[in-house]
Amino acid sequence: MSEHLTEPLSGPISERVLTTEAGAPVADNQNSAQAGVGGPLLIQDQYLLEKLARFNRERIPERVVHARGSGAYGFFEVTDDVSAFTRAHFLGGLGRRTEVFLRFSTVAGNLGASDAVRDPRGFALKFYTEEGNYDLVGNNTPVFFIKDPLKFPDFIHSQKRDPFTGITEAENVWDFWSHSPEATHPVTWLFGDRGIPASYRHMNGYGSHTYQWVNTAGEAFWVKYHFKTNQGVRSLTNDQAAEIAGGDADSHQRDLHQAIERGVFPSWTLHVQVMPAADAARYRFNPFDLTKVWPHADYPLIKVGRLVLDRNPENVFAEVEQAAFSPNNFVPGIGPSPDKMLQGRLFAYADAHRYRLGVNHTQLAVNAPHAATARNHGRDGAMAANAGGRAKNYEPNSFGGPYETGQALGAPLAVTGFTGTHETPAHVKDDDFVQAGELYRLMSDEEKARLIANLAGSLGQVTRDDIVDRVLPHFHAADPDYGRRLAEAVREIRESDG
Ligand code: HEM
Repeated sequence: MSEHLTEPLSGPISERVLTTEAGAPVADNQNSAQAGVGGPLLIQDQYLLEKLARFNRERIPERVVHARGSGAYGFFEVTDDVSAFTRAHFLGGLGRRTEVFLRFSTVAGNLGASDAVRDPRGFALKFYTEEGNYDLVGNNTPVFFIKDPLKFPDFIHSQKRDPFTGITEAENVWDFWSHSPEATHPVTWLFGDRGIPASYRHMNGYGSHTYQWVNTAGEAFWVKYHFKTNQGVRSLTNDQAAEIAGGDADSHQRDLHQAIERGVFPSWTLHVQVMPAADAARYRFNPFDLTKVWPHADYPLIKVGRLVLDRNPENVFAEVEQAAFSPNNFVPGIGPSPDKMLQGRLFAYADAHRYRLGVNHTQLAVNAPHAATARNHGRDGAMAANAGGRAKNYEPNSFGGPYETGQALGAPLAVTGFTGTHETPAHVKDDDFVQAGELYRLMSDEEKARLIANLAGSLGQVTRDDIVDRVLPHFHAADPDYGRRLAEAVREIRESDG
């Protein structure tokens, strides 16, 4: 029996009273209305019907990728002057602070999947700037597995559950990679020590793509973002991760939430690599190729500021599940590069949000601008909480409607040639394997041994010879020692499995 009011109810309802969604008082939250004691239920029990119907509708489609995640609010503070490179207001002015929301995630797992798994981590940042929201939707990996957005659905299908077995199949994962030599570098990264972060606090974040910055003089630069964790990079081995994942599926969520509740606020230092726009054409490889990093010797890190997370969301569904980050949310002074992957993403995210959350997702508190105001003539649609009042809904109008600025956010890109499905031209020296080899050679003997064991543990599960035979040469091309040792380790596992 639950607690109930003793005094008779009339007039305004006190805050202690349980109500229906229409605000009427609920008399009994334990017993449905029946036709007599022990009799069937009554359709007039509007409260029961409303409660069951509402419950049926609690879940929305999970994100097609990055479904499992954790979020927190905080701020970004400018500590170093980068105004020579961008006119973005939130990056100008030493000490300037901008509110942010950051959602971390794993990629392949579903909403209830374990956190401690070998998978890239998402690092999606929303800056609530005075010039509108700027979304930087990155990962904890500086590189990605493919270079053309047309391959993204195939790539993700190969990483997720097989349509027949309902299981994530190593065969599919490696079949895709065996047909995608450009994945050799990110695969080396993923199966190395950093492939299973100990927590979201103990990993770096990267914008990964090359972006455009433009300064007040209109000069354009190509930029890569690096958020270095101030907690130090910490990772898990396969065995440690398996134990944690088996005991606590929510290990990353628990770690982040509890650290912030304890007042131990995680922070990252933002650095950028900056390439003058004119360098791109003469750089020795395509600087817009997402499978490659820019060596720091060529473009050193330049410090920008610090990112601090200091506030947990009040409600995970409202603020984390319904958060919507889109790489096409730019502010003046920041724009896209011609990276084909980025260009594809400029479409994909807002489209996903319209499907997953609805056309008015930008009105939700977590997604709406906080330091600016959205003023346009987009109107109505399902669940329009802010339908624009009595203001005219067309532009131009003579009734005080908002004006366009006539100023592009970024600088124009020069283009040449013919339309068509062009393959990205191969680079003679910096092919798909060179940076994988460089990463391998940077590793200590112990790191190399763990990398080979991790890769062989996965590739060794593949039973089809053609897949193994197609992918091993990629590692050999990266570094003959890498290829030889992996081939040997895979052969041993496959032989011992019969
Ligand atoms: C989430 C598409 C590549 C980072 C998503 C979502 C889609 C998507 C549809 C779900 C969005 C939502 O429902 O809110 C794509 C496509 C890609 C691509 C088509 C390639 C063409 C990348 C890359 C990165 C990345 C290269 C990182 C550099 C993320 C992150 C999320 C995400 C962090 C989760 C955002 C959040 O926390 O809400 N992606 N993605 N994706 N993607 Fe991608």
